[in-house]
Amino acid sequence: MDKRHWLDCPATLSHGSIIQRVIFTRQVPQAPQGGGILRFVESFARGYLEPGAASTPQANKGLQEIYFVASGSGLLLAGKQKHNLREGDGIIVPPGVEFSFANDGAEPLELLILVEAVPKGVKPKLRRPLVRNFVENGMGQGHWAHLVHKVFDRSDGLLALHTVLIVRIEAMQPADTHGHKSDMDEVWYMWRGQGVHVVSQEVCVQTPGTAVSVCPSDPGHSLINHTSEPLQVFYFARHPQ
Ligand SMILES: [Fe+2]
Repeated sequence: MDKRHWLDCPATLSHGSIIQRVIFTRQVPQAPQGGGILRFVESFARGYLEPGAASTPQANKGLQEIYFVASGSGLLLAGKQKHNLREGDGIIVPPGVEFSFANDGAEPLELLILVEAVPKGVKPKLRRPLVRNFVENGMGQGHWAHLVHKVFDRSDGLLALHTVLIVRIEAMQPADTHGHKSDMDEVWYMWRGQGVHVVSQEVCVQTPGTAVSVCPSDPGHSLINHTSEPLQVFYFARHPQ
């Protein structure tokens, strides 16, 4: 099991004034012991913008960023576009688009940040940022008790990733065990609540702010909500081709 709490990761500045902690980075083939976890995604981070602060306008070359507003409110500015942001908003910022965030609220604007490289030969689908709150998408059910809310998938413009989800597990509910090989990425980040995550033969109590990579998991992994409150996970995956 690869498990990391965001506070165990060093703080850096991104986009001028987003205080971020990069939780997982991509494996480097030349340095397999370098600490990289992800196989298809460049990085996964948690960051925030303080009240009254704004990030530096920036365009990403060859990279697409996916943001999730974990708490707080603010603005996304991109050219003539201006989006009011609220908790639960997902944002895809395609490459080549200059954008910035501003926190006009009273609380920190907390963001989960995924960076995916544009794969060779792939043309980005989006030409301007896409903003949508995950609760606007329908909810489905899988693995017994996973209540699954899509944030984004390939049809929305993801490039390296296949799905970004919010998975909800109600109180005292288990999920069926299933396994993954190492030919994919699947990461579970505890957003709200907590649960017991069994990965292969390891067990951890997964608390808020903890990310767990479950690839490979043999014979499987299962997240169990052993508490009396619902839990919500920010989940992202790149499936085998
Ligand atoms: Fe899984």
